[in-house]
Amino acid sequence: MDPILNPYAPGAGTPPPELAGRDELLSLVHIAVERIRRGLSAKSVLMVGLRGVGKTVLLDRMRHEAEASGIHTLRVEAPENRSLPAILAPQLRQSLLRLSRNEQAKALAQRALRALTGFAQSLKIKYDDIEVGLDLEAEPGLADNGDLEHDLQALLQTVGEAAQKAGTALVLFVDELQYVEEDQLEALITALHRTAQGSLPVALVGAGLPQLRGKMGRAKSYAERLFEFPDIGPLSPEAARRAFSKPAEDLGVHFTDEALERLIGESQCYPYFVQEWGKHVWDAADDSPIALEDVVAASKSAVAALDQSFFRVRFDRLTPNEKRYLRAMAQRGPGPHRSGVIAEVLGREVTSLGPTRGKLISKGMIWSPNHGDTAFTVPLFDEFLIRVMPGDSWLE
Ligand SMILES: Nc1ncnc2c1ncn2[C@@H]1O[C@H](COP(=O)(O)OP(=O)(O)OP(=O)(O)O)[C@@H](O)[C@H]1O
Ligand SMILES: [Mg+2]
Repeated sequence: MDPILNPYAPGAGTPPPELAGRDELLSLVHIAVERIRRGLSAKSVLMVGLRGVGKTVLLDRMRHEAEASGIHTLRVEAPENRSLPAILAPQLRQSLLRLSRNEQAKALAQRALRALTGFAQSLKIKYDDIEVGLDLEAEPGLADNGDLEHDLQALLQTVGEAAQKAGTALVLFVDELQYVEEDQLEALITALHRTAQGSLPVALVGAGLPQLRGKMGRAKSYAERLFEFPDIGPLSPEAARRAFSKPAEDLGVHFTDEALERLIGESQCYPYFVQEWGKHVWDAADDSPIALEDVVAASKSAVAALDQSFFRVRFDRLTPNEKRYLRAMAQRGPGPHRSGVIAEVLGREVTSLGPTRGKLISKGMIWSPNHGDTAFTVPLFDEFLIRVMPGDSWLE
């Protein structure tokens, strides 16, 4: 098939040609946002799932839908090693400048811009990565304590008042939330708790790896009551079938049933792999319908492509010790594995491996589905590790 027309889109945050199987989630967020705009109670939504399940594309789609119905949004991605105030401040400023163009909300938006000035100036000492344009003088005593918990609360409150006056809501879309330090997460939760108590239209829609759930709970025990934590996982087989077939059908191309079933099996209904297999089977096939033999050919090149990109970028961020730890896990299969089992493969004490395991969790390579269990955050990563570290020389 013509590669120029290939509709499939493997990539990080690349919108799929068909966002299959996520209607319930989209509607959950739509309802929450519209309730919050009306001053009604609703939980903020934090989507939790492994790498490549489609959290980022969902977040973008939700944001797009919210903007289309007149909600003000901002979008940030929490990178490793940057502070939450530093990533939020410039985006909040943009939102406030927009809100200040609304006649009704102008005065309150300007007050919020003053709060932002106080916030940035007083917190700059502790978070020296804050860089934000300051439009108005600070108002003494407004969000300028120098204490993140207090100041973020005061800031979001003034922002919420401005949004309320404009008849809209401000929704913060935050990706990779698991990278935010616990004390900063705690400040964010407290601030959202306060705006919710005041029925102010401010909400958070976030996404992160599974450790986010525990991190939120540790940060504030009432996080559970404030947030909904929908799990984002593999697609259902029906949704995966649709994710493969709809984009092709739109271009007049069909799959045989056998081919489709095999694609579902090979991709494990895992969104990133659906796109990767879709792309390769399209390129492998000569004409419609796409048949089983095309899938067999595509699987080879799809796996090779994953090895060079999806898996490779993760692997290249690892130290030799971390690679060995993961390779030891892979030795025992896809997992999850008990810590004791991994230590045994390595011939080490469990306690001596604690720091390596901790690093791997914070890098988002592994997670702990249950106490003492360790699992990969990406399916098929075990097989990749065996391909790049074959035999047993890695043990030395
Ligand atoms: N519902 C879906 N149907 C089909 N394909 C999807 C779906 N959701 C996501 N994808 C595809 O999966 C891939 C990964 O999506 P995305 O980058 O949003 O995942 P992620 O969960 O944010 O991953 P990471 O944790 O690595 O950031 C993209 O190529 C995207 O097009
Ligand atoms: Mg993502």
